[in-house]
Amino acid sequence: MPPKIAVVTGANSGIGFETAKELAAQDYYVVMVCRNLNKAARSAQIITQQTGAAVDIMQADLASFASIHNFAQNYLNRYDRLDILINNAGLYSDSPQQTEDGYELTMGVNFLGTYLLTRLLLPALLKTEKSRIVNIASRAGFYGKINLAKPFHGPHGFRGYSASKLAQIWFTISLAEELKDKGILVNAVSPGRGATNIWRGESLMMKIVRPFMLRSAQSAAECAKTGLYVALAPEDEITTGLTFEKSKPLPYNQRCLDYQPRQQLMQLAQDIIQG
Ligand SMILES: NC(=O)c1ccc[n+]([C@@H]2O[C@H](COP(=O)([O-])OP(=O)(O)OC[C@H]3O[C@@H](n4cnc5c(N)ncnc54)[C@H](OP(=O)(O)O)[C@@H]3O)[C@@H](O)[C@H]2O)c1
Repeated sequence: MPPKIAVVTGANSGIGFETAKELAAQDYYVVMVCRNLNKAARSAQIITQQTGAAVDIMQADLASFASIHNFAQNYLNRYDRLDILINNAGLYSDSPQQTEDGYELTMGVNFLGTYLLTRLLLPALLKTEKSRIVNIASRAGFYGKINLAKPFHGPHGFRGYSASKLAQIWFTISLAEELKDKGILVNAVSPGRGATNIWRGESLMMKIVRPFMLRSAQSAAECAKTGLYVALAPEDEITTGLTFEKSKPLPYNQRCLDYQPRQQLMQLAQDIIQG
C-alpha cells in the first residue's frame, strides 16, 4: 500500500510546523508547502531529526495564483493520492497590502489562495478513499463582517483577518455540502491563541495588541492539537462542515449559518479563479 500523504501549507513555522511534525511521527508522508524554501528546509531537517521520517518540500506562495497553479501541477504530477490536506498557511496584515493578483492580502491568502489551492488538489483528494480537508480558521471568523460589494478589496487589520476567517468557515460549510457524497470530510478549526509568528507588524496598534495576544497564549504544539484531532480521529467521531475548538464542534452563530451571503461569496471566488 502506498504511504498515506498529508499536505500541510505554511508548514515551516508555528501551528503548521507542529502539525507536520506530528503527522510525520504518525507515519504520514508529509508534503510541506511553503513560500520560502530555505525556511522550509531548516524546518524539514528538524522534523526528520525528531521523527526519523522523510518529508517533501514544495514551494507555493498563496498570495499568487500563478504560484498556486504551478505548485498544484507539480503535486499532481508527483503524487496520485492525498489523504489529508491541512490548509494552515495564513497571516494577519497590519498594513494595507495586496496579493500579486491585486486582492487585499489577508483575504487573498487566507481565503482566495486557500480556495484555489484546495480546488486544484481535489482530483487527488477524490482519488483517495476517506480523505479529509482541515481548514485552520479562527474563532475570529464568528465575528467577521464581509462587504459583498467588494469582499476582496476590504480592510486589513483585525477586520480583514476576521472577514478572511469567516470566509474560510463559509468555504468549509459549502465544500462539505458539495463533497458529502464523495467521502471527503471537510472541517475547520479554531486553534486558540498561540505564541507564533503571526502577530507581526510595526503599526502602533500591533505594538499595543501584540503583548496582549502573546500573554497567556498557548504553545504552537498545543494549538495544533485540534487540527490533528480533526485530521486523525476515528470516523465515528467526526462528521463534516463543522468548526472544532479544543477537539469539540463549536455551535455556529447566525453569521456563520447565513446561506445567501455564503453562496454569493463562493460564487464570487469561483468566478475569480476561473478568470
Ligand atoms: N497563532 C494564533 O493565535 C492563531 C489563532 C487563530 C488562528 N490561527 C491560524 O493558524 C494558522 C497558522 O498560523 P500560526 O499562528 O502558526 O502563524 P505563523 O507561525 O506565522 O505561521 C503561518 C504560516 O503561514 C505561512 N504563510 C503566510 N503567508 C503565506 C503565503 N503568502 N504563502 C504561503 N505561506 C504563507 C507562513 O510562512 P512564512 O514563515 O514564510 O511567513 C507560515 O509558515 C493561520 O491560518 C492563522 O490564521 C492562529
